Amino acid sequence: MALLETHEIEVFYGDFQAVFGIDVSVEEGETVAIIGANGAGKSSFLNALAGITPSKPDAITLDGKPVGGTPAYEMVKKGIALVPEGRKLYPSLTVEENLLIGADGKTVDRGWNLDEIYRLFPILKERAKQMSTTLSGGQQQQVSIGRALMANPKVLLCDEISLGLAPTIVKDVYAAVKEIQARGTTVLLVEQDLSAALGAADRVYCFMEGRVTLTGRPDELTKDQIQHAYFGMSDA
Ligand SMILES: Nc1ncnc2c1ncn2[C@@H]1O[C@H](COP(=O)(O)OP(=O)(O)OP(=O)(O)O)[C@@H](O)[C@H]1O
Ligand SMILES: [Mg+2]
Repeated sequence: MALLETHEIEVFYGDFQAVFGIDVSVEEGETVAIIGANGAGKSSFLNALAGITPSKPDAITLDGKPVGGTPAYEMVKKGIALVPEGRKLYPSLTVEENLLIGADGKTVDRGWNLDEIYRLFPILKERAKQMSTTLSGGQQQQVSIGRALMANPKVLLCDEISLGLAPTIVKDVYAAVKEIQARGTTVLLVEQDLSAALGAADRVYCFMEGRVTLTGRPDELTKDQIQHAYFGMSDA
């Protein structure tokens, strides 16, 4: 049994359907990446897992138990924490206050606390008392990741953590993802940066127009397969 599974999950915004019956499974300890173009449904899918967009109870199972439709504040207590698209830090709070808010979702100690976050991201310790808005984009992304980790989740969901960052900073952020996985946290991430996603993930799913078009291990997939699954076309 996988740690986290979706079963024919659908996401609607009123009459508009963004996700059409997707099955994804994530094993404990794995890093799984979802790739896909703008509007493919990646955030809609991740937000459903985080309890931000509604889904049916059986559409999501965590440790085999149905958790779909659980509100976000309870989902994090069940062990699913989200690093949201665009970071969504609290601008009127300091770095440390932003991190401490994440601990509200903690129900079990899996080893993540302020000291461990500062070990993972040393610059945040230096900036702890600064307002989060005074930080660079990469540092703000570190705060957003740290805040989610402070909940001590079973599964960390990351929505486009490379967005708007320079390539060298993206490398640093993904080095941290490797470290987070090495410390035993399961990661499900969404990415448009293909090389970042393929470099970090044990397995990849490609979404297009709300459906899975390809799945496999990065080393098994060809560039042409990925291009076809991503854009619906190929070089050939
Ligand atoms: N709140 C909303 N209300 C209505 N439609 C929405 C809403 N959020 C997303 N959509 C639509 O759902 C579809 C999937 O959007 P979603 O944001 O999940 O895609 P995405 O893969 O995350 O894209 P991106 O890479 O641009 O973040 C799109 O057609 C989008 O316009
Ligand atoms: Mg998105």
